Amino acid sequence: MPPKVFVSRIIPDAGLDLVKAACDADIWPETMPPAYEVLTERVRGVEGILCNLNDRIDGALMDAAGPQLKVISQMAVGYDNIDVRAAHERGIPVGNTPGVLTDATADLAFALLLASARRIVESVEYIRAGQWRTWEPKALLGGDLNGATLGLIGLGRIGQAVARRASGFDMRVIAYSPRGKPEEAAKQGVTLVSLEQLLRESDYVSIHVPLNESTRGMIGREALAMMKPSAILINTARGPIVDQKALFEAVRDGVIGGAGLDVTDPEPIPLDDPILTLPNITVVPHIGSASQRTRDKMARMAAENLLAGVEGQPLPNQVRV
Ligand code: NAP
Ligand code: GLV
Repeated sequence: MPPKVFVSRIIPDAGLDLVKAACDADIWPETMPPAYEVLTERVRGVEGILCNLNDRIDGALMDAAGPQLKVISQMAVGYDNIDVRAAHERGIPVGNTPGVLTDATADLAFALLLASARRIVESVEYIRAGQWRTWEPKALLGGDLNGATLGLIGLGRIGQAVARRASGFDMRVIAYSPRGKPEEAAKQGVTLVSLEQLLRESDYVSIHVPLNESTRGMIGREALAMMKPSAILINTARGPIVDQKALFEAVRDGVIGGAGLDVTDPEPIPLDDPILTLPNITVVPHIGSASQRTRDKMARMAAENLLAGVEGQPLPNQVRV
């Protein structure tokens, strides 16, 4: 009998076909993810769960699935929606998809950085509003990248990939990475500094840490107050790392210059969130890894983790507790 698995969204065929070929797969067919209660019902009796970052996977859900549950495979690198410790306690390995989305996410971080620095979204709106009447010497002036300081909070896979892009723009790159090795960072042209020094010196700050108890709310009112009035904050990591109300007030009051966000708190961002009223905050809908090739690779990797798990084999990419 093929193993029973639940797949919580329709993922690209590169992964889904592998799952369908090897498993008795219950695939959630809708665009909107299953509610927690529905998910809890659907996973009863399965040996594997292929989930996404919207799905809350906690100990109660694992218990509802039953003792035959052998693997939880997330199609994302971040896994803050999964209680990995609860899984570990139950002997259930958790898989994720690191590496294959590094470049796509770094590209998006850089796209937001450039768009924010050079006021691209505002400029498009300016034309649409009929304001482009002539070439204006003082209209829509933004910031330079050349010679500016980029501060990276987190210097893992994506942080390093952003640093590589920044070197092509002749930026000075500093990073906050408490467990990073200064000599290793220096080889990549990055200087390690304290968080306070990073916030005070950077023209652009880009966040690349996972969401966990040490990073939740890391960028709040106090941190924002340390930043330059012209500085731009880029967040492609997770929304709750930034205190969104404090960010709104800081940008509104000119404490910092603007922001580019791929992630918000909550997601999706409510349409009446005041953040959406500010011209110097650009928000995009969590599209960091959204290139066709990257999503194909993520789907394949998630499927391979799932299949290894249901066969009782080590996962190719297992989250370490
Ligand atoms: P990674 O390689 O594990 O890098 C994360 C880095 O953050 C590590 O170097 C880690 O250092 C550091 N870190 C952890 N806690 C820290 C703290 N309190 N202060 C400073 N540094 C800290 O992960 P990645 O592949 O670069 O991905 C990073 C995150 O990006 C993911 O967790 C995910 O949330 C997000 N992401 C978003 C998208 C998107 O679509 N927007 C796409 C991919 C990823 P240590 O290893 O020394 O702890
Ligand atoms: C996306 O946000 C991911 O963590 O892969």
